[in-house]
Amino acid sequence: MNNFKLKTESKLVKRKLSDMSTMYLDQKAVKEVLTEDPLIYEFSTIKVPEENGHLLHCISKIYSGKIGSEYFMTKGHFHEVENTAEIYFTLKGNGKLVMQANNGDSKVINMKKGSISYIPPYWAHRTVNTGNEPLIFFCVYRGDAGHNYGIIEKNGMKKLIHEKNNKVVITDNPKY
Ligand code: F6R
Ligand code: ZN
Repeated sequence: MNNFKLKTESKLVKRKLSDMSTMYLDQKAVKEVLTEDPLIYEFSTIKVPEENGHLLHCISKIYSGKIGSEYFMTKGHFHEVENTAEIYFTLKGNGKLVMQANNGDSKVINMKKGSISYIPPYWAHRTVNTGNEPLIFFCVYRGDAGHNYGIIEKNGMKKLIHEKNNKVVITDNPKY
C-alpha cells in the first residue's frame, strides 16, 4: 500500500573524536587531541520508513585529519540484517573503503571522485579520508537494514590506514 508521504525531513548526525575515542590505535594521541575534540565526520539522511521496500540513502562527509598517524575515519559497522548490500558513490575527495567479512576476510578499496564502491552482503564497512580535503560520498541500502556497531566497537577492524613517510599505508591491527 502506498502510504508514504513525500516530504523531505532530514536528519544530520555528527561524530566527534569523543564519540569514538577508543577506536584509534594511538591512545596517547587521542588524549592530546581530545582537548580540542574535533568533528571527525557527519552524515545526513532523508527520513524514509525503515522497512523492506524502501531505500535509505545518505550523504557522508569525513573531514581531513589524523589521530597520531591514523587518518580520520567512520566508526564502521555490520548491518543488523546481515545480508544487506550497500553502494557508495564518491562525490569528492580521496579515501579508502575498509571491508571485513564475518569469516575474517578483509579488503581495502580506493575511493575517489566518481568511483562506485559495492559493499556485498555480510561485510562490515568503514571509510577513511586519506586526502587533504573532505571525503564526501552518497550511499544507498535497504530500508530495514539497521546498524550493528558492537563488534567493530569492541575489536576495531583488522586493517588500519595510516600515514607513513607521506604515504598511505595499510597495517594490521595488533588487537587481532
Ligand atoms: C550506512 C552507511 C553510511 C554510514 C556513514 C557513517 O549503512 O554505511 O551511511 O552510516 O558513513 O558511518 P558509521 O555508520 O559507521 O558511523
Ligand atoms: Zn552501511
